[in-house]
Amino acid sequence: MKTSFLMTPGPTQVPPRVSLATAQEIIHHRQPEFGELLREITEKLKYVFQTQGDVLIFPGAGTGALEGAVVNFFSPGDKVVFGVMGEFGSRWAKIAEIFGLQVVRLGTEWGKAVTAQDLELLLTSEEGKGVKGVFITHNETSTGVYTNLEEIGKVCQKHKLLFLVDAVSSLAAIDLQTDQWGVDVVVTASQKALMTPPGLCFFSVSEKAWAFNREATCPRYYWDLAQAKKYLERKMPQNPYTPAVTLLFGLNQALDMIQREGLEQVFARHLRLSQMLRRGVEAMGLELLVKDEAIASPSVTAIVVPPGVEASNITSFMRQSGIIIAGGQAELKGKIVRVGHMGYFDAYDIANTLTTLGRAFQEQNVSVDLGQGLQKAWEVYNHG
Ligand SMILES: Cc1ncc(COP(=O)(O)O)c(C=O)c1O
Repeated sequence: MKTSFLMTPGPTQVPPRVSLATAQEIIHHRQPEFGELLREITEKLKYVFQTQGDVLIFPGAGTGALEGAVVNFFSPGDKVVFGVMGEFGSRWAKIAEIFGLQVVRLGTEWGKAVTAQDLELLLTSEEGKGVKGVFITHNETSTGVYTNLEEIGKVCQKHKLLFLVDAVSSLAAIDLQTDQWGVDVVVTASQKALMTPPGLCFFSVSEKAWAFNREATCPRYYWDLAQAKKYLERKMPQNPYTPAVTLLFGLNQALDMIQREGLEQVFARHLRLSQMLRRGVEAMGLELLVKDEAIASPSVTAIVVPPGVEASNITSFMRQSGIIIAGGQAELKGKIVRVGHMGYFDAYDIANTLTTLGRAFQEQNVSVDLGQGLQKAWEVYNHG
């Protein structure tokens, strides 16, 4: 019998030690043991977020955190810029509109990245007058593109804007120097490179962001970050509402694994293995959606499905072979398939995925050179 192996852009494979930890006997969230656990996890998260600022944990999906980042720092009528490079940037902008913010979309063709120059140009135009904040998706999971946050951070600092980043598919996979690059708010979720089952989401919050928070009047109750900070700062740290205790047991293990490997090594592994897949896909004769290496995501790769081939036939062949990948979303539906490579995976997972992908395309009468693909992939793994 085939088991399912997740090579999707989330949720991702969960290491056995993380799963085992979640099976531990439950503790009550108002007991001292829980306070210790929360304190420990919060410190470990600061390492992964690369911040000295606050890190807050909520039970919730990544989309909840996107909403939380809107309602905690702005008021209805505030003018804000959203970088829209695909489905997730688009979703975040829609959330802001629902809460009455005045949204300016800094858009680009799907498969391309929004740049600091684009932002600078917008901010110095008539349309950019009165902007208070900039929202950017670090890694656009729908296309496999990532953005240069460091440069965008400089523009935000120059114009004194709040800088908010969706790192749902990048934190712990792609370098994100929160404090160093002047990112005021980072949001992410547990089910991707953090190697933990779905159900937790996270916020990092800078001092500047807390100043915005004090002025922000968007309605909020569950996502009240100031309330969460108060509870966290109690002698025995707590959450305002019932936390996902068992997921936190698992997360604690996952964070230890990240710490043991070291963040730099974690980023290097993601980059090298993504290169292994990208070069292998090309050598097989298939096409990558993102050709520019400078913006090619180390955590998600999109492969173009040639005209006449049903993308769903590729994903279902993969599924029947035990490997789950994803199709395209919105305007890329039917045009690409997406492989996620985040968190708990290694070179053999890439090689296995590449082989099965090649077979899936062959099954659809697409000419694919499996041997060339695998040879190239291992060459890249061995020699970079
Ligand atoms: C970049 C990005 N943002 C937000 C989300 C939404 O997360 P969730 O599905 O947990 O709501 C995702 C999910 O894939 C994502 O990749």
